Amino acid sequence: MADIRLRSIEKMYGETAALCGIDLDIRDGEFLTLVGPSGCGKSTLLRIIAGLEEQTRGEVEIDGKSVNKIRASKRDLAMVFQSYALYPHLTVWQNMITPLRLRDLSSLERMPFIGRFVPGQRDKVKSLHTLAGETAHTLKLEQLLHRKPGQLSGGQRQRVALGRAMVRKPRAFLMDEPLSNLDAALRVHMRAELAELHRNLKTTFIYVTHDQAEALTMSDRIAIMIDGEIIQLGTPDEIYKNPRDRRVAEFVGSPKINILSGDVDESGNVSIMGNHTGIRIRKRIKKVHLGIRPEHFRLVNGNGATDSWPFHVTYKENLGSDFYLHGHLNGSKNRIITRAAPDEVGRITIGETVKVRARQGKPMVFCDNDCRIDVMQEAGYGSA
Ligand SMILES: Nc1ncnc2c1ncn2[C@@H]1O[C@H](COP(=O)(O)OP(=O)(O)O)[C@@H](O)[C@H]1O
Ligand SMILES: [Mg+2]
Repeated sequence: MADIRLRSIEKMYGETAALCGIDLDIRDGEFLTLVGPSGCGKSTLLRIIAGLEEQTRGEVEIDGKSVNKIRASKRDLAMVFQSYALYPHLTVWQNMITPLRLRDLSSLERMPFIGRFVPGQRDKVKSLHTLAGETAHTLKLEQLLHRKPGQLSGGQRQRVALGRAMVRKPRAFLMDEPLSNLDAALRVHMRAELAELHRNLKTTFIYVTHDQAEALTMSDRIAIMIDGEIIQLGTPDEIYKNPRDRRVAEFVGSPKINILSGDVDESGNVSIMGNHTGIRIRKRIKKVHLGIRPEHFRLVNGNGATDSWPFHVTYKENLGSDFYLHGHLNGSKNRIITRAAPDEVGRITIGETVKVRARQGKPMVFCDNDCRIDVMQEAGYGSA
């Protein structure tokens, strides 16, 4: 068990800053995910926590003690990589038991024949075997113990890599994109397994991924990293519903949030392509960007509705339970995607122009430098 604190961590590679002052408190037993686009510094940060890389400035503390001077092998953290890093010539069982033997038995105790005559060695070996056996059971590896990594599927190999980390009972698990070598279906399955494993072990997990869906589904909290900085930290729900920055809003959610450019009049009223939005801002600027998630559009019936926007449908994407309508607002080239129920879209044909509006209170407003702007909404607008 461990809480891990990062204080003003900076990392320079020559002149290039990979991390620009990271402050983060990871709570004991928490599943915290570092998520962000490739190259934003996730792996560098994880490797600094693990002690595999040295920070240029800043402090890593584990359970209240600085570990800056403590090397990786003494930090008692387990790292799980995308590449599994299993010994190919050893069986699953040997892969799991070897790190334990190396850690807990002296070189004399490990020797063939002679080792077993060292007093106490047998009991030690027995307890290592019990531990490895329990781990194999937890990870459903019992049927595979005699196989070598080459005879396993990707998902099975990943479970063995986890098992090898688990047997050491580390203070925390550090995982760098552990599922990215697996096919899509297996990735979804392993997400559920990892989340369950975390619930059972109650150990701190720090998980790195560029996949926002992985981050949203498994984590207690998510830290969104962009260009070497954490730009938002929060629960998956907070990050999705209340992004404080346009880059966060665009990074989480699939399909991506729609961004529409809006014009602001002297009174602060926002319109898009000349259409009334019911949104007013206090900030004195002329242009804003409106972020509307696909599920926050509504199809509007009838031609009489004044507070709705003409939407030209170019493609209907059928997902069974839902449809995504692709298209653009009349007069705009920006492609937007709206979600609708199958019974609503049955009568809509491609090429048709329908009426849509955003659900009340849902559009987010961003300024040119990506920051979120507070909005005032007209009462009653778009509430139907
Ligand atoms: N050993 C290195 N030498 C120089 N630059 C590096 C090194 N490792 C990483 N970088 C750079 O640091 C930045 C962050 O890399 P990384 O932490 O691997 O990103 P991520 O894991 O988020 O994809 C990138 O711009 C990368 O090119
Ligand atoms: Mg990486």
